[in-house]
Amino acid sequence: MSFPDGFLWGAATAAHQVEGNNSNSDWWLWELETAQRKAQAARAKQWPDFIGSRYPFPFQEENYISAKACDHYHRFEADFDLAKSLGHKALRFSIEWARIEPEEGKFDQSEIEHYRQVIKALRQRGLEPFVTLWHFTLPAWFAKKGGWLQKGACEYFVRYVQKVVEALKDQVVFWMTINEPIVYVSASFLRSSWPPQEKSLLKAWRVVRNLIKAHKLSYQAMHQISPSCQVGIAKNITFFGGSFLASFYSYFPNKYFLQKIKGFQDFIGLNYYRFVQLAFAKRKLWRTDLDWDIWPEGIYHILKYLKKYHLPIYITENGLADAQDRKRKRYILEHLRFIWQAIQEGTDVKGYFYWSLLDNFEWAEGFWPRFGLVEVDYQSQARKIRSSAQAFAEICKTNKLIL
Ligand code: FCB
Repeated sequence: MSFPDGFLWGAATAAHQVEGNNSNSDWWLWELETAQRKAQAARAKQWPDFIGSRYPFPFQEENYISAKACDHYHRFEADFDLAKSLGHKALRFSIEWARIEPEEGKFDQSEIEHYRQVIKALRQRGLEPFVTLWHFTLPAWFAKKGGWLQKGACEYFVRYVQKVVEALKDQVVFWMTINEPIVYVSASFLRSSWPPQEKSLLKAWRVVRNLIKAHKLSYQAMHQISPSCQVGIAKNITFFGGSFLASFYSYFPNKYFLQKIKGFQDFIGLNYYRFVQLAFAKRKLWRTDLDWDIWPEGIYHILKYLKKYHLPIYITENGLADAQDRKRKRYILEHLRFIWQAIQEGTDVKGYFYWSLLDNFEWAEGFWPRFGLVEVDYQSQARKIRSSAQAFAEICKTNKLIL
C-alpha cells in the first residue's frame, strides 16, 4: 500500500512532557503539591510486574514529578539524530509558553533562541517542524490570575503567539495554536484531574468559549505576520460506538470545536487514540497499558467524517502505552492500513505523527505509561530504539505499508 508522494512521516512530543525543569509553569507547582497523594493512592492498586520493573514505579512520588523528564531540553540534537535514523521526515513538538514569558509581559529572548536552535537542528536533519503553541501547560503567573477563565486570557495568549511567530516565521510553515482543547477542558474543569482541578459546567463552558476566541484571534494575527503559514489545531477525536446515542455523545467532544472554528483553519490535525464503548455488554478488544480499547477502524470513520471540511488532514497523534512493545507494531500497521483506505477513498491525509518519539511524562499518570518509539531509562537518560520503531522506520523510508 503506497502513500502519496511527500507524505510526512514522523513522531510527536510536547515540551512539558520531554524537556524537564519547567519550573515557571502551573503543572510544575501542581505536581509538587499532589505527588505524595497520587503515590499513596497507587499503593492500593495491583500493578502488573512489567510496570513495576522499571523506575519510576507508580507507587513512588518520583513518578508524578516531571523534574528532568527526558532532559530533551539539552539532548534534542541526539534525539533528532534518532528520528532521522528512523526515516522520519517531520517532527511535531511544542513551545513552552512558561519559558518564553516566565513573568507577565517579560519575554525571554534566550528561550526564543533555544527554540530557534531546535528548529535549526530539525531542518539540518531534513525534518519539517510542526509547532504547537500551547500544549496544556500554562505560565504560573497566567494560571494565578485565573488562567483561561480570566477576562484578558485571549489577549495574553495572542500576545505570546505574536512574539513567537514574529521570531520564528522564517523557519516554520506549520503551526498548531492549541492541543486538544476539549481534553484540557474536561480534565481540568469537569473531571477535576488536572490543574486547576475544578468541577464546574459553567467554568468549563467559559473556558471553551475563550479557547475558541483565542484560536480565531491567533489565526488572524498569525496570517498577518506570516501570510503563507499554515495554521490548525490538534483535535482529539474519540470514536464512540455501541449505542444509538453515539452520535449524540460525540457532538460536544468531537465536533463542536471544529464547527466553531470553521474558516479559521488551513489544515486539520487529528489526534486519535481510543474507542469508547457505550453499550452495557462491551466487546472484548485489545487494550493498551492504560486500559484504552484499541480499534484501528475508528480512524477510518473519523477521516471520512472530516472530509466534509475540505482541508488537508495530518494525523498529529496516534499511539499507545505499551511498556513491553508487544502490541505497538501491530497497532501502527493497522491504523495505517485504515488511513491508507481513507486516502484511497479521497480523503486528503498528508502526514502521520506517532505519539511519541520518546517515552515521557504522561501528565497525571506520570512516567509509568510508555508511549515511545524510543525507550528512555529515566535514571541514566539512555535511549534505546524499540523494535516496533524499526518496523515503523521501514514504512517511513519506503513510503509503503506491507502487511
Ligand atoms: C494526548 C496528549 C498527549 C499525550 C497523549 C497520550 O491526549 O495530547 O500530550 O499525553 O494523549
